[in-house]
Amino acid sequence: MPTPYAYFQKQFVPLAEAKISIMTHAFNYGTGCFEGIRGNWNEEQEKVYLFRLWDHFRRLRKNCRILKIEMPHSEDELCDVATKLVGMCGYCEDIYLRPIAYKSAEVIGVRMHDLEDDILMYVAPFGPYLDVEKGIRCMTSTWRRVDDMAIPARAKVTGTYVNSALAKTEAQENGFDEAIILNSDGHVSEGSGENIFIVDNGRLITPPSSDNVLMGITRDTVIRLARDELGIETIERQTDRSELYTADECFMTGTAAHVTAVVDIDRRPIGNGRTGEITARLQKLYFEVVRGRNSKYADWCTPA
Ligand SMILES: Cc1ncc(COP(=O)(O)O)c(C=O)c1O
Repeated sequence: MPTPYAYFQKQFVPLAEAKISIMTHAFNYGTGCFEGIRGNWNEEQEKVYLFRLWDHFRRLRKNCRILKIEMPHSEDELCDVATKLVGMCGYCEDIYLRPIAYKSAEVIGVRMHDLEDDILMYVAPFGPYLDVEKGIRCMTSTWRRVDDMAIPARAKVTGTYVNSALAKTEAQENGFDEAIILNSDGHVSEGSGENIFIVDNGRLITPPSSDNVLMGITRDTVIRLARDELGIETIERQTDRSELYTADECFMTGTAAHVTAVVDIDRRPIGNGRTGEITARLQKLYFEVVRGRNSKYADWCTPA
């Protein structure tokens, strides 16, 4: 029977014992940076492979600088903690690993400086987040993406996810699966927890980081697989909402979302209203890679 454990206050403890105080700064003000990392179960090998673990911790360490969070651990040390934790939990299914570096001080006062920091990690079983088989229906949100001048989207700050949650709830309560969020200039930014791509004339187009996008590791994976395996280039450029409607294909990428086709936006079918051909080829490649079935990309898969 798998036992949930957490890494909390520099120790491995049963998940039920990992509790923060109601006075914790990060709980009160959203002052944490987090990551979402998938462990993908490989049935034949009976192993969980953590996908691009080192790259996730690199992003976390960089983001800590934005929030002035002291990160005492290197990427390699964080990888060791993560693999040990996932191993201790013993899940034989797809899982999600959630590290959070946060302001742990128990004080009142809005600031980033002169506060204690800590890092925690926990693991949870995690199946599909969106409908990868059928594709999803999206709406353009009435909410706008937070600007780099307000709260940097790239930093994956816990508090920023109020922006994503407002958009996701609006979309779902209106009968859609996911939101597409525009930035304050009206250009396409991303989904509530996913990057977005369109396929146009055999090329991929995706918004650049300057449009307040979180620079996704799945986004990078797809760009590389498209280039190196399918010979398809990706153009990172400002994208208009109307380009989504006229695209041949559209898909979203993210650790939770994997590669998911967007088959309808604002009640307009995209392409033929089903998963497009290039999207399907990328999905196939991606799943082989993340489940540790493509030896060329073995470096991206850490067994736990
Ligand atoms: C707002 C947002 N955009 C994009 C992504 C995709 O990033 P990644 O592929 O690194 O998971 C996420 C993932 O958590 C996200 O929260």
